[in-house]
Amino acid sequence: MNLPNRLPFIVANWKMHLSPSQAEDFADQLGPVLAEITAAAPNALGERFEMAIAPASPSLDRLGQTLRRMAAPRPGGGIALAAQNIHPEASGAFTGEVSLEMLEDLGCAYVLLGHSERRQLFGEDDAFIAAKAQRLVGSGVAPILCVGETLEEREREATLEVVRRQLESALSATEDGLAAQLVVAYEPVWAIGTGRTATPELAQDVHAAIRQALIAHYGTAGEQTRILYGGSVKPSNARELLAQPDIDGALVGGASLNPNDFAKIAAACL
Ligand code: PGA
Repeated sequence: MNLPNRLPFIVANWKMHLSPSQAEDFADQLGPVLAEITAAAPNALGERFEMAIAPASPSLDRLGQTLRRMAAPRPGGGIALAAQNIHPEASGAFTGEVSLEMLEDLGCAYVLLGHSERRQLFGEDDAFIAAKAQRLVGSGVAPILCVGETLEEREREATLEVVRRQLESALSATEDGLAAQLVVAYEPVWAIGTGRTATPELAQDVHAAIRQALIAHYGTAGEQTRILYGGSVKPSNARELLAQPDIDGALVGGASLNPNDFAKIAAACL
């Protein structure tokens, strides 16, 4: 059961897939598929669930334009644009990076922070991720803060300690500055791209601990923060996961590259 303002949220993380023209084709296919799958609940997108897509940076502009065109007849009922990365500094000599101002100009509503691939492959640590979170305070771009343990950490029963440390680092750097817009995504690293999903009960246990940490930090506002699950979410397991009391949506990698599968995952919110 979701509180009224914890609208289920389904987010695609395309990682390094889909060029600008492929992204436009995807959105053009997704629109009719989603309309068909949710035909019984015509305003479901926006009223019953929210969706966002995080494409690779070069596809942000084209996808953003396509999503705005699709949403045009029904303002507020569209799919939001999300970025996969941001640099903590406002601007400067940071080759290959993107700034908050650029994301705002592109119309991004969200940005992924602390994804395990950024942590593991690009050496991003808690302090760097907290600095990115600080940059977002007072902006129109909301963070989707990813936390999650590795297999080795789970096996030595350090899951909650790791997840709380990752969360607390970003929360303490931003005090209450992100309370209203923060989205958290719990993604056990061993479940990402492996086909191995956490059971709904196991995911719920960690989500409940994240909820407690949010409430400890924000007070009752922490009850309103959406906590997404990520890690091999697909049409066949989405409904069970989304039925858990503290699972408020999904961050979807592989299955989000197929418009049919992505639409089916969203429809599992109904
Ligand atoms: P996956 O990726 O759905 O392919 O496991 C999830 C993610 O990395 O966000």
